Amino acid sequence: MKLLTGNSNRPLADAIAKYLELPFTKAVVRRFADMEVFVEIQENVRGEDMFVIQSTSYPANDHLMELLIMVDALRRASARRITAVIPYFGYARQDRKVGPRTPISAKLVANLITEAGANRVLTVDLHAGQIQGFFDIPTDNLYAQPPLVKDIQDHLGGESLMVISPDVGGVVRARALAKRLGTDLAIVDKRRERAGESEVMNIIGDVSGRTCLLVDDIVDSGGTMCNAAEALLKNGAKAVYAYATHGVLSGGAVARIRDSKLKSLVITDSIQATEDVRNCPNIRRVSVAPLLGEAIRRISSESSVSSLFD
Ligand code: R5P
Repeated sequence: MKLLTGNSNRPLADAIAKYLELPFTKAVVRRFADMEVFVEIQENVRGEDMFVIQSTSYPANDHLMELLIMVDALRRASARRITAVIPYFGYARQDRKVGPRTPISAKLVANLITEAGANRVLTVDLHAGQIQGFFDIPTDNLYAQPPLVKDIQDHLGGESLMVISPDVGGVVRARALAKRLGTDLAIVDKRRERAGESEVMNIIGDVSGRTCLLVDDIVDSGGTMCNAAEALLKNGAKAVYAYATHGVLSGGAVARIRDSKLKSLVITDSIQATEDVRNCPNIRRVSVAPLLGEAIRRISSESSVSSLFD
């Protein structure tokens, strides 16, 4: 097995390499003056089981292009098998036609990755599990729940917890967490009037006096989490904590979270944290590196990945 990384999330790639006690394959992934991506693999990879680590996070198109070109370079260098390790799969929210004459970009991106030469995909908390079906190659979708649950147990062990889905679409994910923690579940019935804005409507469930744990796959503008926190507190919640796998945190999200009613937001390192994120007093990060490292080890040795979650 050999590892290769792009430039999207070097700290996570380093942590995975450390877990696996493997050096990176020598390679150059850089830009020409006109910003074209150039990749050169500087050692023999013929017949190797290659794992290419790259989140397609901001700037999504540049990082996607790096991934595609790394995979192409490996294919042309006769790697035996190429697994695209995509801790955060960008474009996942564009998984259906939202209106007439709109694209299904998640499917297009899946096609591009496959066409470039990837033989497998390994990712974490896909926005919708069905996106696995966009790939006609084996796709492992890991759950970030184990490190998030550990953080909950370490920080909120003694509280009367209630898990909250911030929208109807996230109920399956929230129910799984509630089951794992042995707690109740409530749902925020959110209606989004315009793309990028969110509006809280009703709370389904009695949250009064409860310590609420909002759980979501992505926190982007932060609107969903912050608005949900306000609604929960208005409905009598004692305190609100938020957990999300992917900290996209675009635009003014960090300031919005900092100034919100959220006691804390916990995200994983699937996307590299900016300095603002690192310095935000109520944002904490947990790592998915051991989870990804172990999954890579198991894929390489052809052993079970699902048993990671037993
Ligand atoms: C939407 O369906 C996702 O699960 C998240 O709820 C959404 O992406 C969060 O976006 P924002 O932080 O911009 O409200």
